[in-house]
Amino acid sequence: MAVSTINLLEQVLNYANRANPYPIYARMREHPVQRQADGRYIVSSYALVDAVFHNPQMSVDMRKSNEPGIRLEQEEPPFVFLDPPKHDWLRQLVASKFTPGLIDSMQPRLEEIVAELLNAQSASQRMDIVDDLAYPLPVTAICELLGVPRADEPRFHTWSRMLIKGTHLGKDAAAAQEARQGRDALNQYMGELIDKLQRQPGPGLLSAIIHDTGHEKHMSRAELITTATLLLIAGHETTVNLITNSMLTLLRHPQAFELLRRQPEEVLPNLIEEVLRYEPPVQFTLRTPLIDVTLGGVKIPKGAIVMVMTAAANRDPARFENPDRFDPQRQNIEHFGFGGGIHYCLGAPLARLETYIALRSLARRLQNPRLLQDPPPYRESPILRGPLHLPISFERMNVV
Ligand code: HEM
Repeated sequence: MAVSTINLLEQVLNYANRANPYPIYARMREHPVQRQADGRYIVSSYALVDAVFHNPQMSVDMRKSNEPGIRLEQEEPPFVFLDPPKHDWLRQLVASKFTPGLIDSMQPRLEEIVAELLNAQSASQRMDIVDDLAYPLPVTAICELLGVPRADEPRFHTWSRMLIKGTHLGKDAAAAQEARQGRDALNQYMGELIDKLQRQPGPGLLSAIIHDTGHEKHMSRAELITTATLLLIAGHETTVNLITNSMLTLLRHPQAFELLRRQPEEVLPNLIEEVLRYEPPVQFTLRTPLIDVTLGGVKIPKGAIVMVMTAAANRDPARFENPDRFDPQRQNIEHFGFGGGIHYCLGAPLARLETYIALRSLARRLQNPRLLQDPPPYRESPILRGPLHLPISFERMNVV
């Protein structure tokens, strides 16, 4: 059995390594299944991460693990933390409303939001990609999609940031306490909104789900609350990092930016997949085995915590040629940026569309953009990883 002598995970969690965790991931992959001194396991090769995602015995429900405190205890966890059969019917209910057609229909509105946000910067020669575009775009989009008032953003933004501190991996009691408070405030807020929509239907996905009569089983109030909160948080704490990580990577690779500027429509779909491989906004996730399992020759006991290092798998040289090279024209990029298996990201089409529109506009409109700080300051979270700010300069903002 491979037992790690140096705790590589501690190094990943250490904020000092946030700007570049990839050398640590490379060391992890030397022993693709490792047992840490604290009894947790790390899985980091492409083949084994894929195996974990497709193993029905690998649960997302940490209440079934021997460290239930690793995630916030919740009476009614959102479906991303639930196993079948409940996961499947809740996901299906949302998916039946959150259709590809609905997402396509958002395109003109997304273009409009991006144009407004960039126009607001046109008199200046500097902007912060995060505050001026990458954060407000997905927030506005998810509010309008769900039917959550955009004006409430400052409130739920604070709570959601508090809740994200729940990604403390069970080792920080103060962060857990703050996360609980954030979660309770968000749930209270959502409950009130849901009650209002129950009495008076409104536009948006939440109202559509509440008043859905096409299914045999209906969501309870508690299920509605956690599902709505999941969509709100997943909808705006991740895409911000995809847009920002993309821009950071492009400005570090001027040839790729030039290619994008010349042929945005041809280049972008593949380029976005390559960013999801190379600088994924979600770096790892958790599972726990429901029975003893053997993975890569290592026995993992029932209930152990398994850290599934998707960002390490995305750079596995056994799967990707020159994995540390950013190649927007790379072929066969089946990355784990959106996870894999039955919990594969439900919002992937929306995240891709928002990023496509944001990057196409940036490439068309920014004349000679430059990074003002490299590396930029990073957010605290090692899981939802991305810059806190990305200040850039440019010569001119073109009008298109
Ligand atoms: C770039 C942006 C995004 C990234 C990188 C991302 C990443 C992920 C990942 C890695 C998972 C799997 C977690 C696991 O298996 O443990 C996931 C699940 C999920 N994501 Fe996303 N996500 C993004 C945007 C969105 C958006 C915009 C929404 C909704 C509007 C969304 C909704 C969800 C939901 C509901 C799940 C749970 C699916 C399930 O359990 O069946 N995500 N996401």
